[in-house]
Amino acid sequence: MCGIVGYIGTQTASGILLEGLQKLEYRGYDSAGIAAIWEGEIHRVRAKGKLQNLQEKLANWQIPAPIGIGHTRWATHGKPEEHNAHPHTDVSGRIAVVQNGIIENYRELREELKAKGYVFHSETDTEVIPNLIADELQKLKAIDSKVSLLDATRQAVNQLEGAFALAVISADYPDELIAVRQQAPLSIGFGQGEFFCASDTPAMVAHTRTVLTLENGELARLTPTGVDVYNFAGDRLRKYPKTLNWNPILVEKQGFKHFMLKEIYEQPGVVRACLEAYLDSDWTVESTTSPIRLGLADSFYENLEQVQIVACGTSWHAGLVGKHLLEQLADIPTQVHYASEFRYAPTPLMPHTLTIGVTQSGETADTLSALDMEKRRRSEMGSKFAPKLLGITNRLDSTIGHLVDYLIDTHAGIEIGVAATKTFIAQLVAFYCLALDLAYRRKTIPLDRLDQIVTELRQLPAQIESILEVQERYVEQLAHEFVETQDFIFIGRGINFPIALEGALKLKEISYIHAEGYPAGEMKHGPIALLDAKVPVVAIAMPGLVFEKVLSNAQEAKARDARLIGVTPMDDQEAREVFDDLLPVPEVEELLSPLLTVIPLQFLAYHIAARRGLDVDQPRNLAKSVTVE
Ligand code: AGP
Repeated sequence: MCGIVGYIGTQTASGILLEGLQKLEYRGYDSAGIAAIWEGEIHRVRAKGKLQNLQEKLANWQIPAPIGIGHTRWATHGKPEEHNAHPHTDVSGRIAVVQNGIIENYRELREELKAKGYVFHSETDTEVIPNLIADELQKLKAIDSKVSLLDATRQAVNQLEGAFALAVISADYPDELIAVRQQAPLSIGFGQGEFFCASDTPAMVAHTRTVLTLENGELARLTPTGVDVYNFAGDRLRKYPKTLNWNPILVEKQGFKHFMLKEIYEQPGVVRACLEAYLDSDWTVESTTSPIRLGLADSFYENLEQVQIVACGTSWHAGLVGKHLLEQLADIPTQVHYASEFRYAPTPLMPHTLTIGVTQSGETADTLSALDMEKRRRSEMGSKFAPKLLGITNRLDSTIGHLVDYLIDTHAGIEIGVAATKTFIAQLVAFYCLALDLAYRRKTIPLDRLDQIVTELRQLPAQIESILEVQERYVEQLAHEFVETQDFIFIGRGINFPIALEGALKLKEISYIHAEGYPAGEMKHGPIALLDAKVPVVAIAMPGLVFEKVLSNAQEAKARDARLIGVTPMDDQEAREVFDDLLPVPEVEELLSPLLTVIPLQFLAYHIAARRGLDVDQPRNLAKSVTVE
C-alpha cells in the first residue's frame, strides 16, 4: 500500500505533489510527506495522520522547487509517527526516497550500513534505501567521478529483496528523478516539459493522460527533457506510453457526502454497462452462438475441467458467489481460496484447471502472488497442467492485466471508497456472464432456462434503482437505532451466504462494530449462543430453495430475543410476520438475488458508520490497495 508521487518540470512541485497525494490517499493515510530540491538543498515536510495535517504544515511553505517527491503511508514497519513518515533521507540529507512496499532484507542492510557509520532515525525498512544509494554513490565515485544517480540507485535496488516501488531525488542531481518498480505499481506520466510518476494514474490525470506503466525490474530516469527506461541490469529499453481513456470527474465526489455513497448509487449504471458489454442483444434460443460475448480467445474454452478462484476480502466473497454459479449453471467443480493462504498451501495440481484471480485494484499482492505461483509451478509441468489464468477486474491497466492470459473487464471504473461496493456488484455480474457462457457451451442448462436468466438479468439495473430510491431514507433512520450496538450477526444460505459475509465485512470495516456472517443453518451449531436482545440478526431470506429454511433459522434467533432484520421481498406476508424490521427488495429469482440483497446491507453499513461520525471512505487501519503480503 502507500501512495508515491514524483514531479519534475517547470512548475512548483509542492502543489502538484499534494494534489497527487489527495488522489492516492485511499492507499494509506497514517502519515504523509514531501521533499523537494531548491537552491542545492533538499527541503522536507512530513506530518503524522491524514494528508490534511501535511497541507496545514505546508500552508506557508514558499519554496518554488520544480522537482519533488511525495508519499502517503500505510504503516508496515514502525508506528505511524512523524519520524517514520516518508520521504526518508540519507545520513547527509542529500538524498530523499519514498517507497511503497516492503524491503524484506532491511535488517541485514541496516546492520551493514550502521557498521560503516550510517545513522538511522526511524524504525522503517525504507530508511536503508537512501543510505544504500549514498553508499553506492561513494563507491562509484571512487572509480569514476562522473557517476550518475541512476547507476547508484540501480546498484542499490539490486541489493533489495521484497516488493517495492521507489521515487528518488538527490540535491546533487537537481535535474533527475529516479523511479523504480519491483512488484509494486508505478507509472510515469508524460506532460509538456514536465514528467510525473505515481502509484496510480488518478494522481496524474489532471496533468496528463499519456502514461507508461513500468514493469517489474525496471527503473526510469525522469529529467525536464524526457524519460529513459532501463532494466535492473542497466540495459536501456524501448518503451512507448499509452493514452488513458480517463475522465478525471470520475474521481470526484460529485455532491455526495462520501465516495462510498456515490459508488453505491453508481451500481445500476455499472451493472447496465457490464451487461451491455457482454450480453448479445440479438440472441434468441434459435441462435447458434452464446448469448454472452466475453471476447475471450477460443483457447480459453478448450480443456476446461475445473476452476480455482483466488481472491481476498470482498473479492473473495464475489468468488464464493462465482463458485455457486459455475457449479450450478455450468457444472464445473470450483474451489475458492483466500489468496494469502493458497500461496503457502497450494492444492495438489489437477489437470485442465482454470485459475481465476478476482481483484478490484488489480494490485493486491496476495492475489498476484498466488496467480504468479500458479503460473510458475504449472509452467514446469506437461501440457495437461499448463497454466490458464483469468483475471476479473475493473483495472485492466493494473498488474493483474499484465500477469494473466485472459481478462474480463467488470466495467466498474475506479472506486475510491475503501469499502468495495460497485466493484463487488460488477464482479458478480462478470461471474454471471462467465457461468452462463460456459453453461451454453457445455450445454449444461436448457436454452429456454438460459433465456429466462438472461431476460431477468436485464431487469436488474432498474430493480437496483428501485431499492436505492425507496430505501435510503428508511435505512438512514433505522441505522440510528444501532449506533451503540456492539455485535451484529448476518445470516444467509446458498447463494446468499456470501452476501451475509459481505454485509458483515462492510459493517466491520467502516463502523468498527463487530459483525459475523454465518450460513443460517450453522447458527444452531454454536453461534446461537451469542444471541440475546443486544445482538441484532440480519437475515437474507429470498424466495427459492432455502427460503423456508432461512425463515426457520430466523425464528430460532427470534426465540433468543434477537432483533430480526430481514432482507426479503416487500410483499411476502410470511416474512413480514417473522421480521421486526424489513429491508425490502424486489422479488427476483433466487439465483440472481445477490445482486439485489447486497444493496441494503451496503446502505446499512454506510449509515451506521456515518451516524457514528466515522471516516467512511478512509476507515482506520485499512487501505484500498493492499500491495504487501
Ligand atoms: C473490501 O471492502 C475491502 N476493503 C477488502 O476486503 C478488499 O476487498 C480486499 O483487500 C481485496 O482487494 P482487491 O479486490 O483490490 O484485490
